[in-house]
Amino acid sequence: MSSRKRRPVIAGNWKMNMTPSEAKAFAAELYEKVKGKRGCDIVVCVPAIDIPAVSKVLAGTAIKVGGQNVHFKKSGAYTGEISADMLLDAGAKYVVIGHSERRQYFGETDETVNLRTKAAVEAGLHAIVCVGELLSERESGITTEVVSRQVKLALAGITAEQMNNVIIAYEPVWAIGTGKTATAEQADEVCGIIRNVISGLYGKAVARQTIIQYGGSMNAGNAAELLAMENIDGGLIGGASLKADAFSVIVDAAQ
Ligand code: 13P
Repeated sequence: MSSRKRRPVIAGNWKMNMTPSEAKAFAAELYEKVKGKRGCDIVVCVPAIDIPAVSKVLAGTAIKVGGQNVHFKKSGAYTGEISADMLLDAGAKYVVIGHSERRQYFGETDETVNLRTKAAVEAGLHAIVCVGELLSERESGITTEVVSRQVKLALAGITAEQMNNVIIAYEPVWAIGTGKTATAEQADEVCGIIRNVISGLYGKAVARQTIIQYGGSMNAGNAAELLAMENIDGGLIGGASLKADAFSVIVDAAQ
């Protein structure tokens, strides 16, 4: 399965950082750093309240905007929640789903990840679905089992055609925000396992074209090695996406 046919997607996940005013200024700075770099798709997944301001700054540029979560109902009495249509109307084209921080702190389960993924792709958003094992799971030797199960449950009911709008982000929980990156071989191995799971569900052709990102302490220093791996088609970047220079180096590494 050659990766040469897949266009990398470099996505920043700003997490709970940047007020709308800060976001506006930072988006303008980021655009200046990455403009003209056409070898990959670039996305910034920002706090929902920043989406209108960031979308306005980036309108007409190659940088796409995403949210960090989406509710699975179209509308209704769900105080504090945001629907897929709201994200789209505000300017988002992508949304992160099932990030480990949401699984850990906000009660996200494989079932709600699946509901959100279906709602997102049905509305026309690109879903960036996060999976990844805990350190204890890796140490117990059950990474393959855990990640395969997360992928299968997240994609239940998603059609082969809808897979065009699904990206899987492999984020080992022990590598997020810790400065501890998976080695390129470890990351590639699990991304390959994910590709095999997708092949089992949808066939080889879909598996070959699905974007599988790595996330977890990806930075300017290690991006090139990770992105050179066969099964790694991009990155979901936290901390380093908040620094325009570092993010721009990662974008260069994906060219
Ligand atoms: P860091 O790059 O800060 O480790 O975060 C990774 C992540 O969680 C991206 O979603």
